[in-house]
Amino acid sequence: MLSFQALDERRSEIARATPAERKSHFGQFMTPSGIALHMASLFSSFRGKRVRLLDAGAGIGSLTAAVVARAVEDGARSIESESWELDARLLEPLRQTLGECAASARAADIKFGSAVETEDFVLGSGAGSAAAPTCSHAILNPPYKKIRSDSAHRSSLRKAGIETGNLYSAFVALALKRLEHGGELVAITPRSFCNGGYFRPFREFLLSTSALRRVHVFESRTAAFKADEVLQENVIFRLVKGGVQGQVAVSVSRDASLCDLREHWMPFEEVVLPHDRESLFHLATEQLDDAARKGMQEYRFGLSELGLSVSTGPVVDFRHRKHLRERRSTGCVPMVYPHHFKHGFVCHPKADAKKPNFIENNPDTRRWLLPTGHYALLRRLSSKEEARRLIPAVYDPATINAPLVGFDNHTNVFHEGKCGLPATLARGLALYLASSFADRWLRRFSGHTQVNAGDLRALCYPSRAMLSAWGETFANTFPSQGEVDRIVDGRGA
Ligand SMILES: C[S@@+](CC[C@H](N)C(=O)[O-])C[C@H]1O[C@@H](n2cnc3c(N)ncnc32)[C@H](O)[C@@H]1O
Repeated sequence: MLSFQALDERRSEIARATPAERKSHFGQFMTPSGIALHMASLFSSFRGKRVRLLDAGAGIGSLTAAVVARAVEDGARSIESESWELDARLLEPLRQTLGECAASARAADIKFGSAVETEDFVLGSGAGSAAAPTCSHAILNPPYKKIRSDSAHRSSLRKAGIETGNLYSAFVALALKRLEHGGELVAITPRSFCNGGYFRPFREFLLSTSALRRVHVFESRTAAFKADEVLQENVIFRLVKGGVQGQVAVSVSRDASLCDLREHWMPFEEVVLPHDRESLFHLATEQLDDAARKGMQEYRFGLSELGLSVSTGPVVDFRHRKHLRERRSTGCVPMVYPHHFKHGFVCHPKADAKKPNFIENNPDTRRWLLPTGHYALLRRLSSKEEARRLIPAVYDPATINAPLVGFDNHTNVFHEGKCGLPATLARGLALYLASSFADRWLRRFSGHTQVNAGDLRALCYPSRAMLSAWGETFANTFPSQGEVDRIVDGRGA
């Protein structure tokens, strides 16, 4: 019979005995039974159903066991399980779990059958009869690993019409193909697919084939797979193939115990914005208030629509070490790092800085320098503990007399055709980025503490006129957080 305590003990024992390189080779991070049971609880009732369950990358079968326990409890009519596992070392414990599943179903008078495929799931189910939609349910904790563009995996996926560069998204996409119409999929994966251009085709594939019903976000990066030291922000999601898209349940918990789980419903249009060509997933962990809702409708301009661009600061300082200078001398221009950000402005030079304040303007460095002007800058890195992800500063050329400027690559630089912006626009943009509204918006689609140019291109902005009007409201003193929020939430200068 199924004992989840015994299953957890087997899982921990195997994890302890598996060298880190092997774990990483197979992308082997096993699901604790608490999470597995929670995932199984997300399926609709199994009562009276003929369950045909797919578990791809099954490990020792923890997810299958959780679904079988739930299906037995609900009173399913029959259960057929199909597990795919590539690591020969796990086949014995997997078969043991399936044996326990069979015993538990038999005890409840439920017909049970199981098949174990020892092939590579991507190569084996990408094309041919294995790809036929024969499953009613899929439960996945797939391996995480990049797929090289010239690999057999990639060409097999292409044959199946799937364009994706990571094993986890490949597993989800292939599992969706295997589901019959109305079939349900529950998966735990990294959150990374929710944003970024790299996963756009995958998001489009998900949304075109199925309805997103539920997403759970683990707030702590170590939460779900603590024992295996996985530093990934994870999500659990539930899809219904061919389903009609309705509201989405978004929940959050700090850790794997799920004991502080909070949940709310969001209109789908607030999870994937109708005008967003990137189809980012916005996962608000709190109910949106009316101000946020109104803001999202009004601040709908992409950077390119504003005629602006954003780039990573072009100077990689260690490559130009010999051109960096502590003190200003002839031919030197300012070198700006995040540590120069102070109360919303670049404060340069910094007397006690560990890094040099200047860079020589010479034929080797010139192409990495920008003409002086007003720029809105943003720190690229923040720590998880920091209250804000978006930390902007205005570079005001009036305070720093030099024809060019070097921006370190730990900053993001907003520019107009590689030149500065009108002063009021640079200030208004910094003000918007300093708002709690923009910070929350970014967090809804990005789980990273790093803010890259791609994230800033994905963010939406107020109109150019509105930003400029906001920039008119201050000159040398950045408004307080309260004032910034009053302006941005109230949409008034
Ligand atoms: C993240 S682990 C999850 C295991 C299990 N589903 C669980 O939740 O405990 C992924 C599993 O996929 C297996 N795996 C990796 N690559 C695979 C492939 N190409 N085909 C089938 N299984 C694979 C690994 O050996 C590992 O057991």
